[in-house]
Amino acid sequence: MAPSSEQKQSILVTGGGGFIGTHTVLQLLREGFRVTIIDNSVPEAVDRVRDLAGPALSRNLHFFLGDLRNKEDLEKVFSETRYDAVIHVAGLKAVGVSVAKPLLYYNNNLIGTINLYEFMGKYGCKKMVFSSSATVYGQPEKIPCVEDYELGAMNPYGRTKLFLEEIARDIQKADPEWRIIHLRYSNPVGANESGHIGEDPKGIPNNLMPYIQQVAVGRLPELNVYGYAYPTKDGTAIRDYIHVMDLADGHIAALRKLFATGDIGCVAYNLGTGHGTSVLEMVAAFEKASGKKIPIKLCPRRLGDATVVYASAEKAQKELGWRAKYGIEEMCRDQWNWASKNPCGYRLQP
Ligand code: WQD
Repeated sequence: MAPSSEQKQSILVTGGGGFIGTHTVLQLLREGFRVTIIDNSVPEAVDRVRDLAGPALSRNLHFFLGDLRNKEDLEKVFSETRYDAVIHVAGLKAVGVSVAKPLLYYNNNLIGTINLYEFMGKYGCKKMVFSSSATVYGQPEKIPCVEDYELGAMNPYGRTKLFLEEIARDIQKADPEWRIIHLRYSNPVGANESGHIGEDPKGIPNNLMPYIQQVAVGRLPELNVYGYAYPTKDGTAIRDYIHVMDLADGHIAALRKLFATGDIGCVAYNLGTGHGTSVLEMVAAFEKASGKKIPIKLCPRRLGDATVVYASAEKAQKELGWRAKYGIEEMCRDQWNWASKNPCGYRLQP
């Protein structure tokens, strides 16, 4: 249970109805925080979080239907409750789509976040945990990436995260009262061990694991493997996949750092395992966990993709006391547990 100083603390979680948001909100409730979610859709996922949290803790969970690009929504959500910190997870996150629709990504990710900072400042809430991404490293020269590497995204999605990190650094320089932590996620996969909440993308999944998941349950015929001649061990691209429950714990660790004493300013932490896994290795691991064959089709590379991205999490371990606990086997086990129990995600049919 959280120390008494945190029990009354109130956290606003943007995008709290999404994959990372729901897992983070559940952990916040279990750690004794009061939570308000602002999300632009009313997902069944939030009811599932209430199921898992139980009636007592669910009394500390409030939901506000709103969009960060609507200043009236922000005025309402900030005037109703005094927040001690914000965890900002809301945002579009598909690399391939961002290459095809850059304006959609700049509008959604940049304008929404700038509005959020404005209202946080107006209401005196100057503690932010921001969902950044390892995609800000682009195609790094040296692997694993460390936080002081030169940044340079390779696609509009990654550039929205890079621009927002720079905007945050400027905000904090102008007003040192701000305490901002950037969490550079690797690739979130897996699901809560209950199988009651998990990733349920709208439409055809863009990310690898939810796509594999839908092939395994028979909703999609085969996996397109984007790129099979990369200079890697098996020719397919390599990423650092991280269990979403590890990621949720990383947000709690960052929040504790924000509330602790001592200067923070604006600081970034990689949240990864420090290990790289190829697309074909991920397919094999999921087949082992699920007992299902995943048919594949070798396809040309996807625009905007890097060859190899994985990050060192030593700084997070040293300064946040956080490290990833789960490996690829548990990620695939839990992703399959969610998929097999919810073949159509949160819907009763596709
Ligand atoms: C992984 C690999 C694809 C789909 C994502 C998002 C964002 C960020 C980092 C948090 C790539 C290949 C994919 C498919 C495939 N995380 N692939 N067939 O692009 O690394 O980035 O994670 O902010 O979520 O930016 O993730 O899962 O789309 O791709 O072969 O149907 O799988 O080419 O090599 P990505 P991804």
